[in-house]
Amino acid sequence: MQNLSAQAPAAFSANAAAGLFSEAQLQLAWELVAHGQSHLFLDWDTPGIHDEEKQRFMATLLNAHLAYPGGLTAYTRNARLLLAEAAAGANPFDGCTPAQPDLVDLSSFGSDYDAAEEVGLRCFAESAVVLVAGGLGERLGYHGIKLDIPVEVTETTSYLAHYASVIKAASKRLGRAIPLIIMTSRDTDDGTRASLAANKNFGLEAGQITILRQELVPALSDMKASLALEKKYELLLKPHGHGDIHTLLHTSDTAKKLADAGVRYLLFIQDTNGQVFNAALAAIGVSEQRGYDFNSIAVNRIPGEAVGGIARLVRNGTPDLTINVEYNLLDPLLRATVSSEGDVPDESGFSKFPGNINLLIVRLAPYLKVLESSGGVVAEFINPKFSDGTRTSFKKPARLETLMQDLPKNFTSGEKVGVTVFDRTWCFSACKNNLTDAAQKVIQNGPPESASSAENDFYEAGRAKVRAAGMLVEDAPRQMLRGVPFTSGPRVILRPSFALTLADVREKIQGGSISGDATLILEGDVRLENVTVPAGTSLVVHTQDSSPVQLKDFTAPQTPRFIIQPLTDEEMNSTNVPEYLRIRGYRILQSADIS
Ligand code: UTP
Repeated sequence: MQNLSAQAPAAFSANAAAGLFSEAQLQLAWELVAHGQSHLFLDWDTPGIHDEEKQRFMATLLNAHLAYPGGLTAYTRNARLLLAEAAAGANPFDGCTPAQPDLVDLSSFGSDYDAAEEVGLRCFAESAVVLVAGGLGERLGYHGIKLDIPVEVTETTSYLAHYASVIKAASKRLGRAIPLIIMTSRDTDDGTRASLAANKNFGLEAGQITILRQELVPALSDMKASLALEKKYELLLKPHGHGDIHTLLHTSDTAKKLADAGVRYLLFIQDTNGQVFNAALAAIGVSEQRGYDFNSIAVNRIPGEAVGGIARLVRNGTPDLTINVEYNLLDPLLRATVSSEGDVPDESGFSKFPGNINLLIVRLAPYLKVLESSGGVVAEFINPKFSDGTRTSFKKPARLETLMQDLPKNFTSGEKVGVTVFDRTWCFSACKNNLTDAAQKVIQNGPPESASSAENDFYEAGRAKVRAAGMLVEDAPRQMLRGVPFTSGPRVILRPSFALTLADVREKIQGGSISGDATLILEGDVRLENVTVPAGTSLVVHTQDSSPVQLKDFTAPQTPRFIIQPLTDEEMNSTNVPEYLRIRGYRILQSADIS
């Protein structure tokens, strides 16, 4: 109480004197008042009125203060600097000429791919997986956490179970417990912990998993970075973005501990991309082969496509910056510099600037230095919607934001930044959109990114793997399921305990064939030689290491059998049908349920 400045509004001081707040809360109030935020403490009711709301408010303020490196004073100081730049209308890319980034093209299989994957598998033993899973998932509108959504509904495996199964299989194979770091948020923390607890960490050791929870940041109502109120005694908070992962890895000391434990690479992945581990090992291999400190897994991009392009920005007098440039900024930048035609296809038909999908491989040693020098606050920006051309007031409160892919903006020591391009379906297929929006995107020729398209692509990658091993694969015709294309088969699921790499698949499968109306699921130590999976059949093998299975000149049996059954309109609207089925518009029935 005695620390409260004389400038503190009297009404607040009276509440402080009544002992409503902790010493830390009072200290913070004093600091905020001294830094131009006294509006937060004006017009307070006398003690005894709305005391709980006041205490909640002070607790929220302190929480936001403690979550941000340097506290709320640093937050508002950073905001004022960025707001001044925004008011000046400075274009961060002014004076830059975009050039193609340093890249390795692994969009088709071949000897380069195999070599990268072999190196990557070895390096995976010295890697940690960082899963950013704090997002709201508003576009999908699913009522649980996205990590619990099944990536496939033949056997119904959730994204979290799938990721954990890769880490478990790789840990066993490489003889080292590969760490998994999960970033959660207020919206996903409880659900993520509950899912891990209910499933015994999906077979991972408890010490293998670290959960880091991101906090919301206060919104700002004006150019002075005044903290905005939702209403009296309620701070307006907003998400800060997935770049929070860098802050949390720093402030929790996790990055340092990982380095001490021998980790050399961090693989950053998203919550719903079942394809990521098809490409991740080869990409880690490329980081090792090329000495990349920061490597983006990227996809070929058609010019103009609504996905950010990764470009090397060249500016006289400053080192090149390889960074994601949003597509609506890239084209004008190209027109203003290298070509009046803007972003055009090269001889392969794609843009020179590959598409960013936010899958990153970061070398830990230089990363630690960046975290140290930035205090973990990486490449923040502010995007205020100004009320008018004077750029002095906002239409609605703004906040600082940060994106994990912007890390190279903080590189100052010649860190090597590169890109590894993969076939799109092979490395990326997210579950982000509800079915209605997904169907609309299909009409507009965009990727649907629905639960159904993600499952479709999961099987497609499985087919690509067995094809690469020489199996004859007949694709079923494409059908439309509620406006989203779906190739119903064959549905091929190769579990990580069966194969972690393409080389594994080639070693374990020789020849054979599979029909478009068939299912193949392999888990554990299985070998197939000249195995046929005809129409209407399936081969499902789950085996433990102690009992390897070898099938030679074998034809799959009639059971179990799986069929896809579209949901009726009534089922789509019925809460009796699990939501994870309604977000895709079908179920997959097994023999026993097929009449
Ligand atoms: P998305 O672009 O999918 O955003 O995030 P979202 O917030 O999850 O979904 P919408 O936009 O509300 O529909 C990409 C990845 O970044 C994570 C997400 O969980 C996802 O893995 N993310 C996003 C965070 O971890 N924190 C954030 O603040 C935002």
